[in-house]
Amino acid sequence: MPNPYHYGSPVTGDQFTGRHHEVNTLVERMRDGINVVVVSPRRYGKTSLLRRAAEIVERDGGAVVSVSAMGLADARSLAGQLLRQTYRLDGGRWHRAKQAVPTFLSRLRVKPTVTFNGDQPSFSFAATLSSGELDDIVADVYAVLAEVAPRKPSVLIVDEFQDVLDLGPHLPGLFKSLADRHPTVSLVLAGSKQHVMQQLTLESTGPLYGMTSRLALAPIPPEEMGDFLVRRATAGQKRLSVTLADRIVELAGPVPNDIQYLAYEVYNTAGRTITASDVETGMRLAVEHEADFDAWRFAALAPGQRRVLRRLAEAPTATPYADDFRDAVQARSPGALRNSLTRLLQADLATMVDGTYRVTSPFFAAWLRSHV
Ligand SMILES: Nc1ncnc2c1ncn2[C@@H]1O[C@H](COP(=O)(O)OP(=O)(O)OP(=O)(O)O)[C@@H](O)[C@H]1O
Ligand SMILES: [Mg+2]
Repeated sequence: MPNPYHYGSPVTGDQFTGRHHEVNTLVERMRDGINVVVVSPRRYGKTSLLRRAAEIVERDGGAVVSVSAMGLADARSLAGQLLRQTYRLDGGRWHRAKQAVPTFLSRLRVKPTVTFNGDQPSFSFAATLSSGELDDIVADVYAVLAEVAPRKPSVLIVDEFQDVLDLGPHLPGLFKSLADRHPTVSLVLAGSKQHVMQQLTLESTGPLYGMTSRLALAPIPPEEMGDFLVRRATAGQKRLSVTLADRIVELAGPVPNDIQYLAYEVYNTAGRTITASDVETGMRLAVEHEADFDAWRFAALAPGQRRVLRRLAEAPTATPYADDFRDAVQARSPGALRNSLTRLLQADLATMVDGTYRVTSPFFAAWLRSHV
């Protein structure tokens, strides 16, 4: 039996649970040509949600171009993704055939190199593709979507949007002007660097301020996650009680990725019936398997940051500037403490959940408690 849990990359089908309200909201916005920014801390399920909503819109005949700006090496990687996705738009004037390609290319001011694998074209650009040429490609793709929009929903999704900044600080402004010019296309942006996404879209000085509605993902409710774990265990032909499923959620939550990771380890270690001791063993294994990474991340921190992180692992707090916390981390000054905490939050090593600062990963927290 393959392990029924999945972590580390987006989930679909039976591995996707809940989020009904968010999926409906996003699908509605996409259909209505409304721009949306999806924000959440890392690994809450943004990309999975985008894919789910896109699937529904496409199934109903909508046109969706979906790209990710994550860690792009250069402008041509984004340009290539945009063209591949635009070409495959179902129901567009070009279908997947050789004669369709010239029609497609006639829409583009910057011509890619086209190679065929059977009937399937692939598009690529020279390494020297300039930032101005990328702008033209983005604008041309937007125009194709806008042309489709009066007849059916038309959506441009850019995941990990904050990374477009690496290709040019002007790009968010370009998206803004295209969105203004083509109001019927729904522009959907998501990103995992919350503070950058916030600055770009939600602060009055940001280039995309005021043009997007905001969809913030909360954790998936613990009962929903617990039921999901039970269902998946059954699909994997093992028995998991609700009580132990809830225990897994409590140990690893609230981040869905972490819950699935722990469940994965527990499932691997258990026999046909998952026991309380399997859950404890799974937790130990989950921590051990990340230990090298944790040791490396910890070593890369300044001593003051290490003390703050270790203290947060021992005792999450709502009041990190109170005397007891400051004394425990031997902070030289409130300013030094604020700097350390800010760095930890920006690096996503620490986080604030329900007003309480804590170590983001429950496995890193457990490692800190037992190894440092
Ligand atoms: N709706 C869901 N149901 C079950 N598990 C989920 C769900 N959404 C996310 N997960 C869990 O979280 C993991 C990460 O999901 P996903 O990649 O969609 O998150 P993300 O927010 O895009 O992450 P990142 O911040 O790294 O881009 C998945 O592998 C899965 O374990
Ligand atoms: Mg993602």
